Amino acid sequence: MSFNITFIKGDGIGPEISDLTIKLLNSTGLNFNFEFVDAGLSALEKYKTTIPDSTLHSIDKNKIAIKGPLTTPVGEGFKSVNVTLRKEFKLYANIRPIKSIKGVNSLYQDLDIVFFRENLEEFYAGIEHYIDDSRSAGVTVGIITQSASEKIAKAAFEFALKNNRKKVTVVHKANILKCTNGVFLNAGRRIKEQYPQIQWDEKIVDNFSMQLVMNPYQFDVVYTTNLFGDILTDLASGLIGGLGFAPSVNMGENHAIFEPVHGSAPDIAGKNLANPTSMFLSAALMLEYLEQTTTANNIRTAISNVIQENKFVTKDINPNNYVTSDIFTNRVIEEYQKISS
Ligand code: NAI
Repeated sequence: MSFNITFIKGDGIGPEISDLTIKLLNSTGLNFNFEFVDAGLSALEKYKTTIPDSTLHSIDKNKIAIKGPLTTPVGEGFKSVNVTLRKEFKLYANIRPIKSIKGVNSLYQDLDIVFFRENLEEFYAGIEHYIDDSRSAGVTVGIITQSASEKIAKAAFEFALKNNRKKVTVVHKANILKCTNGVFLNAGRRIKEQYPQIQWDEKIVDNFSMQLVMNPYQFDVVYTTNLFGDILTDLASGLIGGLGFAPSVNMGENHAIFEPVHGSAPDIAGKNLANPTSMFLSAALMLEYLEQTTTANNIRTAISNVIQENKFVTKDINPNNYVTSDIFTNRVIEEYQKISS
Protein backbone atom coordinates (compact mmCIF):
# COMPACT_ATOMS: atom_id res chain seq x y z
CA MET A 1 0.00 0.00 0.00
CA SER A 2 1.22 3.50 -0.80
CA PHE A 3 0.26 6.69 1.06
CA ASN A 4 -0.24 9.85 -1.01
CA ILE A 5 0.92 12.82 1.02
CA THR A 6 1.25 16.49 0.10
CA PHE A 7 4.54 17.86 1.41
CA ILE A 8 5.26 21.56 1.99
CA LYS A 9 8.86 21.97 3.11
CA GLY A 10 8.39 25.55 4.32
CA ASP A 11 10.76 28.43 5.03
CA GLY A 12 13.80 28.97 7.26
CA ILE A 13 14.67 25.65 8.94
CA GLY A 14 11.66 24.08 7.17
CA PRO A 15 13.53 22.53 4.20
CA GLU A 16 16.26 21.12 6.51
CA ILE A 17 13.90 19.43 8.97
CA SER A 18 11.59 18.34 6.12
CA ASP A 19 14.40 16.54 4.29
CA LEU A 20 15.37 14.77 7.52
CA THR A 21 11.74 13.79 8.14
CA ILE A 22 11.50 12.34 4.62
CA LYS A 23 14.67 10.34 5.30
CA LEU A 24 13.19 9.01 8.54
CA LEU A 25 9.80 8.18 6.98
CA ASN A 26 11.43 6.43 4.02
CA SER A 27 13.50 4.33 6.42
CA THR A 28 10.36 2.83 8.01
CA GLY A 29 9.69 0.49 5.08
CA LEU A 30 6.28 2.08 4.47
CA ASN A 31 5.59 3.32 0.98
CA PHE A 32 5.04 7.08 0.66
CA ASN A 33 4.23 8.96 -2.49
CA PHE A 34 5.15 12.53 -1.53
CA GLU A 35 3.81 15.32 -3.70
CA PHE A 36 6.09 18.34 -3.10
CA VAL A 37 4.38 21.70 -3.41
CA ASP A 38 5.26 25.28 -2.51
CA ALA A 39 3.73 27.75 -0.10
CA GLY A 40 4.97 30.88 1.64
CA LEU A 41 8.14 32.72 0.65
CA SER A 42 9.37 30.02 -1.75
CA ALA A 43 6.05 30.13 -3.62
CA LEU A 44 6.06 33.91 -3.71
CA GLU A 45 9.40 33.90 -5.54
CA LYS A 46 8.30 31.24 -8.07
CA TYR A 47 4.59 31.90 -8.57
CA LYS A 48 4.09 35.49 -7.31
CA THR A 49 1.57 34.18 -4.78
CA THR A 50 2.09 32.60 -1.37
CA ILE A 51 -0.42 29.78 -2.05
CA PRO A 52 -0.50 28.63 -5.68
CA ASP A 53 -3.63 26.80 -6.89
CA SER A 54 -1.50 23.68 -7.48
CA THR A 55 -0.78 23.55 -3.72
CA LEU A 56 -4.47 23.80 -2.85
CA HIS A 57 -5.38 21.15 -5.44
CA SER A 58 -2.74 18.78 -4.09
CA ILE A 59 -3.98 19.06 -0.49
CA ASP A 60 -7.58 18.76 -1.62
CA LYS A 61 -6.78 15.62 -3.62
CA ASN A 62 -4.55 13.83 -1.10
CA LYS A 63 -6.51 14.98 2.00
CA ILE A 64 -3.33 14.66 4.09
CA ALA A 65 -0.43 17.10 4.15
CA ILE A 66 2.65 17.60 6.24
CA LYS A 67 4.41 20.91 6.33
CA GLY A 68 7.44 22.66 7.70
CA PRO A 69 7.06 26.11 9.28
CA LEU A 70 6.34 29.17 7.14
CA THR A 71 7.61 32.69 7.72
CA THR A 72 4.95 35.37 8.18
CA PRO A 73 6.09 39.01 8.02
CA VAL A 74 5.39 40.80 11.32
CA GLY A 75 3.14 43.88 11.25
CA GLU A 76 3.09 44.18 7.45
CA GLY A 77 3.25 42.16 4.21
CA PHE A 78 1.21 39.13 3.17
CA LYS A 79 -1.42 37.32 5.24
CA SER A 80 -0.35 34.20 7.16
CA VAL A 81 -0.32 31.20 4.83
CA ASN A 82 -1.00 28.91 7.79
CA VAL A 83 -4.17 30.81 8.65
CA THR A 84 -5.26 30.76 4.98
CA LEU A 85 -4.73 26.98 4.68
CA ARG A 86 -6.67 26.35 7.88
CA LYS A 87 -9.55 28.45 6.53
CA GLU A 88 -9.48 26.96 3.02
CA PHE A 89 -9.80 23.37 4.29
CA LYS A 90 -11.95 24.22 7.36
CA LEU A 91 -9.33 22.76 9.71
CA TYR A 92 -11.28 23.69 12.82
CA ALA A 93 -9.18 21.90 15.44
CA ASN A 94 -5.50 22.45 16.06
CA ILE A 95 -4.52 19.50 18.24
CA ARG A 96 -1.24 19.88 20.11
CA PRO A 97 -0.07 17.06 22.39
CA ILE A 98 2.35 18.12 25.12
CA LYS A 99 4.02 14.87 26.13
CA SER A 100 7.31 14.56 27.98
CA ILE A 101 10.12 12.71 26.25
CA LYS A 102 12.33 10.75 28.62
CA GLY A 103 15.86 12.12 28.72
CA VAL A 104 14.94 15.72 27.80
CA ASN A 105 16.16 18.18 30.40
CA SER A 106 12.92 20.00 31.24
CA LEU A 107 10.95 21.65 34.02
CA TYR A 108 8.61 18.66 34.30
CA GLN A 109 8.79 14.93 33.53
CA ASP A 110 5.94 12.56 32.66
CA LEU A 111 3.59 15.31 31.48
CA ASP A 112 0.83 14.31 29.11
CA ILE A 113 -1.66 17.04 28.19
CA VAL A 114 -3.49 17.31 24.88
CA PHE A 115 -4.53 20.81 23.80
CA PHE A 116 -7.36 21.50 21.37
CA ARG A 117 -7.17 25.01 19.97
CA GLU A 118 -10.15 26.42 18.05
CA ASN A 119 -8.48 27.13 14.73
CA LEU A 120 -10.74 29.27 12.55
CA GLU A 121 -12.39 32.08 14.49
CA GLU A 122 -11.79 35.05 16.74
CA PHE A 123 -8.81 37.32 16.08
CA TYR A 124 -7.37 35.04 13.38
CA ALA A 125 -10.36 35.43 11.06
CA GLY A 126 -8.54 38.31 9.36
CA ILE A 127 -11.22 40.94 9.95
CA GLU A 128 -9.08 43.95 10.71
CA HIS A 129 -8.24 47.43 9.51
CA TYR A 130 -6.58 50.68 10.47
CA ILE A 131 -9.02 53.39 11.47
CA ASP A 132 -7.19 56.23 9.73
CA ASP A 133 -4.75 56.80 6.88
CA SER A 134 -1.85 57.51 9.19
CA ARG A 135 -2.37 54.11 10.83
CA SER A 136 -2.46 55.60 14.32
CA ALA A 137 -4.97 53.00 15.52
CA GLY A 138 -6.39 49.68 14.37
CA VAL A 139 -9.29 47.34 14.93
CA THR A 140 -9.24 43.56 14.89
CA VAL A 141 -12.63 41.91 15.16
CA GLY A 142 -12.86 38.53 16.88
CA ILE A 143 -16.09 36.67 16.23
CA ILE A 144 -16.86 33.47 18.14
CA THR A 145 -19.86 31.43 17.05
CA GLN A 146 -21.87 28.84 18.90
CA SER A 147 -21.41 26.23 16.16
CA ALA A 148 -17.60 26.49 16.08
CA SER A 149 -17.49 26.48 19.89
CA GLU A 150 -19.61 23.33 20.02
CA LYS A 151 -17.43 21.68 17.38
CA ILE A 152 -14.16 22.20 19.25
CA ALA A 153 -15.75 21.15 22.57
CA LYS A 154 -17.07 17.99 20.93
CA ALA A 155 -13.66 17.24 19.37
CA ALA A 156 -12.02 17.50 22.81
CA PHE A 157 -14.64 15.28 24.48
CA GLU A 158 -14.59 12.68 21.70
CA PHE A 159 -10.80 12.48 21.97
CA ALA A 160 -11.07 12.12 25.76
CA LEU A 161 -13.64 9.35 25.40
CA LYS A 162 -11.70 7.38 22.78
CA ASN A 163 -8.40 7.69 24.63
CA ASN A 164 -9.68 6.93 28.09
CA ARG A 165 -8.92 10.42 29.38
CA LYS A 166 -10.54 11.51 32.61
CA LYS A 167 -10.97 15.28 32.42
CA VAL A 168 -11.66 18.08 29.94
CA THR A 169 -10.75 21.65 30.89
CA VAL A 170 -12.13 24.65 28.99
CA VAL A 171 -9.94 27.77 29.12
CA HIS A 172 -11.78 31.08 28.57
CA LYS A 173 -12.12 34.73 29.57
CA ALA A 174 -15.90 34.83 29.82
CA ASN A 175 -15.79 37.02 32.93
CA ILE A 176 -14.65 39.98 30.79
CA LEU A 177 -15.28 39.00 27.15
CA LYS A 178 -18.86 38.05 27.92
CA CYS A 179 -20.25 37.94 24.39
CA THR A 180 -17.47 36.01 22.64
CA ASN A 181 -16.03 33.87 25.43
CA GLY A 182 -19.48 33.58 26.99
CA VAL A 183 -20.70 31.85 23.81
CA PHE A 184 -17.60 29.63 23.86
CA LEU A 185 -18.05 28.61 27.49
CA ASN A 186 -21.81 28.05 27.30
CA ALA A 187 -21.39 25.84 24.23
CA GLY A 188 -18.99 23.66 26.24
CA ARG A 189 -21.40 23.53 29.17
CA ARG A 190 -24.05 22.12 26.83
CA ILE A 191 -21.74 19.61 25.12
CA LYS A 192 -20.37 18.27 28.42
CA GLU A 193 -23.87 16.99 29.31
CA GLN A 194 -23.39 14.32 26.61
CA TYR A 195 -20.25 13.02 28.36
CA PRO A 196 -21.19 12.45 32.04
CA GLN A 197 -18.31 9.95 32.46
CA ILE A 198 -15.71 12.71 31.85
CA GLN A 199 -14.89 15.31 34.47
CA TRP A 200 -15.57 18.91 33.41
CA ASP A 201 -13.33 21.76 34.52
CA GLU A 202 -13.64 25.52 33.74
CA LYS A 203 -10.63 27.82 34.08
CA ILE A 204 -10.27 31.53 33.38
CA VAL A 205 -7.19 31.96 31.20
CA ASP A 206 -5.13 34.02 33.66
CA ASN A 207 -5.60 31.53 36.49
CA PHE A 208 -5.04 28.64 34.05
CA SER A 209 -1.70 30.12 32.96
CA MET A 210 -0.46 30.24 36.54
CA GLN A 211 -1.76 26.74 37.32
CA LEU A 212 -0.20 25.35 34.15
CA VAL A 213 3.22 26.49 35.33
CA MET A 214 2.76 25.58 39.02
CA ASN A 215 0.96 22.23 38.70
CA PRO A 216 0.46 21.06 35.12
CA TYR A 217 -0.25 17.47 36.22
CA GLN A 218 -3.84 18.44 37.10
CA PHE A 219 -4.61 18.89 33.36
CA ASP A 220 -5.53 16.15 30.94
CA VAL A 221 -7.40 17.36 27.82
CA VAL A 222 -7.65 21.14 27.46
CA TYR A 223 -9.55 23.15 24.87
CA THR A 224 -9.57 26.87 24.28
CA THR A 225 -10.03 29.73 21.84
CA ASN A 226 -7.67 30.50 18.97
CA LEU A 227 -5.38 33.17 20.46
CA PHE A 228 -5.21 31.64 23.94
CA GLY A 229 -4.46 28.26 22.35
CA ASP A 230 -1.67 29.70 20.25
CA ILE A 231 0.06 31.26 23.26
CA LEU A 232 -0.64 28.58 25.88
CA THR A 233 0.65 25.72 23.75
CA ASP A 234 4.02 27.43 23.22
CA LEU A 235 4.12 27.97 26.98
CA ALA A 236 3.21 24.33 27.58
CA SER A 237 5.99 23.18 25.21
CA GLY A 238 8.37 25.10 27.49
CA LEU A 239 7.37 22.77 30.34
CA ILE A 240 8.64 19.71 28.44
CA GLY A 241 11.85 21.14 26.98
CA GLY A 242 10.76 23.71 24.40
CA LEU A 243 9.45 24.14 20.90
CA GLY A 244 11.70 21.41 19.51
CA PHE A 245 9.37 18.80 21.06
CA ALA A 246 5.88 20.00 20.17
CA PRO A 247 4.03 18.44 17.21
CA SER A 248 0.56 19.34 15.97
CA VAL A 249 -2.19 18.58 13.52
CA ASN A 250 -4.75 20.90 11.98
CA MET A 251 -7.81 18.70 11.66
CA GLY A 252 -10.96 19.20 9.61
CA GLU A 253 -13.82 16.93 8.57
CA ASN A 254 -12.03 15.82 5.39
CA HIS A 255 -8.44 17.10 5.52
CA ALA A 256 -5.55 17.07 7.97
CA ILE A 257 -2.33 19.09 7.89
CA PHE A 258 0.47 17.99 10.25
CA GLU A 259 3.15 20.47 11.31
CA PRO A 260 5.52 21.35 14.15
CA VAL A 261 4.26 24.02 16.57
CA HIS A 262 7.42 26.11 16.16
CA GLY A 263 8.16 28.69 13.49
CA SER A 264 10.80 28.96 10.78
CA ALA A 265 13.59 29.86 13.28
CA PRO A 266 15.45 32.26 10.94
CA ASP A 267 18.21 32.66 13.56
CA ILE A 268 19.42 29.08 13.00
CA ALA A 269 18.26 28.44 9.42
CA GLY A 270 20.80 26.86 7.08
CA LYS A 271 23.17 25.92 9.92
CA ASN A 272 22.21 22.26 10.32
CA LEU A 273 21.46 23.01 14.00
CA ALA A 274 17.68 22.72 14.18
CA ASN A 275 16.12 20.01 16.28
CA PRO A 276 13.91 18.05 13.85
CA THR A 277 12.08 16.23 16.68
CA SER A 278 8.82 18.19 16.54
CA MET A 279 8.60 17.52 12.80
CA PHE A 280 9.37 13.82 13.44
CA LEU A 281 6.65 13.78 16.10
CA SER A 282 4.24 15.49 13.69
CA ALA A 283 5.06 12.72 11.20
CA ALA A 284 4.34 10.19 13.99
CA LEU A 285 0.92 11.81 14.53
CA MET A 286 0.35 11.48 10.77
CA LEU A 287 1.30 7.79 10.90
CA GLU A 288 -1.22 7.25 13.70
CA TYR A 289 -3.85 8.97 11.57
CA LEU A 290 -2.89 6.51 8.79
CA GLU A 291 -3.36 3.67 11.31
CA GLN A 292 0.37 2.89 11.39
CA THR A 293 0.50 3.06 15.17
CA THR A 294 3.40 0.64 15.71
CA THR A 295 5.64 2.62 13.36
CA ALA A 296 4.59 5.86 15.07
CA ASN A 297 5.38 4.47 18.52
CA ASN A 298 8.72 3.04 17.39
CA ILE A 299 9.73 6.47 16.05
CA ARG A 300 8.85 8.02 19.42
CA THR A 301 10.81 5.36 21.31
CA ALA A 302 13.81 5.77 18.99
CA ILE A 303 13.85 9.55 19.58
CA SER A 304 13.59 9.07 23.33
CA ASN A 305 16.37 6.45 23.40
CA VAL A 306 18.74 8.69 21.43
CA ILE A 307 18.02 11.65 23.68
CA GLN A 308 18.49 9.57 26.84
CA GLU A 309 21.81 8.34 25.51
CA ASN A 310 22.77 12.07 25.28
CA LYS A 311 25.67 11.49 22.88
CA PHE A 312 24.14 12.54 19.57
CA VAL A 313 21.69 15.36 20.33
CA THR A 314 21.06 18.81 18.88
CA LYS A 315 22.24 22.06 20.41
CA ASP A 316 18.91 22.98 22.04
CA ILE A 317 19.00 19.66 23.93
CA ASN A 318 22.62 19.85 25.09
CA PRO A 319 24.37 23.15 24.27
CA ASN A 320 27.66 21.85 25.72
CA ASN A 321 27.92 18.68 23.67
CA TYR A 322 25.89 18.57 20.48
CA VAL A 323 25.88 17.25 16.93
CA THR A 324 24.30 18.54 13.72
CA SER A 325 20.67 17.86 12.82
CA ASP A 326 21.61 15.21 10.23
CA ILE A 327 23.86 13.24 12.62
CA PHE A 328 21.08 13.26 15.21
CA THR A 329 18.67 12.01 12.54
CA ASN A 330 21.01 9.21 11.41
CA ARG A 331 21.23 8.04 15.01
CA VAL A 332 17.40 8.12 15.37
CA ILE A 333 17.06 6.07 12.16
CA GLU A 334 19.65 3.56 13.40
CA GLU A 335 17.78 3.24 16.70
CA TYR A 336 14.44 2.93 14.89
CA GLN A 337 15.82 0.06 12.79
CA LYS A 338 17.07 -1.69 15.93
CA ILE A 339 13.70 -1.39 17.71
CA SER A 340 11.70 -2.46 14.65
CA SER A 341 13.78 -5.49 13.72
P1 NAI B 1 10.28 30.32 16.13
O1 NAI B 1 9.46 29.22 16.67
O2 NAI B 1 10.66 30.24 14.70
O3 NAI B 1 11.63 30.46 17.00
C1 NAI B 1 11.61 30.76 18.39
C2 NAI B 1 12.95 30.32 19.01
O4 NAI B 1 12.95 28.88 19.10
C3 NAI B 1 14.17 30.70 18.18
O5 NAI B 1 15.24 30.99 19.05
C4 NAI B 1 14.49 29.43 17.39
O6 NAI B 1 15.85 29.29 17.05
C5 NAI B 1 14.04 28.33 18.37
N1 NAI B 1 13.55 27.16 17.63
C6 NAI B 1 12.38 27.03 16.97
N2 NAI B 1 12.31 25.82 16.40
C7 NAI B 1 13.43 25.17 16.72
C8 NAI B 1 13.95 23.87 16.43
N3 NAI B 1 13.26 23.00 15.67
N4 NAI B 1 15.17 23.53 16.90
C9 NAI B 1 15.87 24.37 17.67
N5 NAI B 1 15.44 25.62 17.99
C10 NAI B 1 14.24 26.01 17.51
O7 NAI B 1 9.45 31.67 16.42
P2 NAI B 1 9.66 33.14 15.86
O8 NAI B 1 11.10 33.48 15.78
O9 NAI B 1 8.76 33.96 16.70
O10 NAI B 1 9.04 33.11 14.39
C11 NAI B 1 9.80 33.01 13.19
C12 NAI B 1 8.84 32.95 12.02
O11 NAI B 1 8.09 31.73 12.07
C13 NAI B 1 7.80 34.07 11.97
O12 NAI B 1 7.72 34.51 10.62
C14 NAI B 1 6.52 33.42 12.41
O13 NAI B 1 5.38 34.04 11.86
C15 NAI B 1 6.70 32.03 11.86
N6 NAI B 1 5.90 31.00 12.54
C16 NAI B 1 5.40 30.00 11.75
C17 NAI B 1 4.68 28.97 12.30
C18 NAI B 1 4.18 27.90 11.39
O14 NAI B 1 4.48 27.89 10.21
N7 NAI B 1 3.39 26.97 11.89
C19 NAI B 1 4.44 28.90 13.76
C20 NAI B 1 5.07 29.96 14.51
C21 NAI B 1 5.76 30.98 13.90
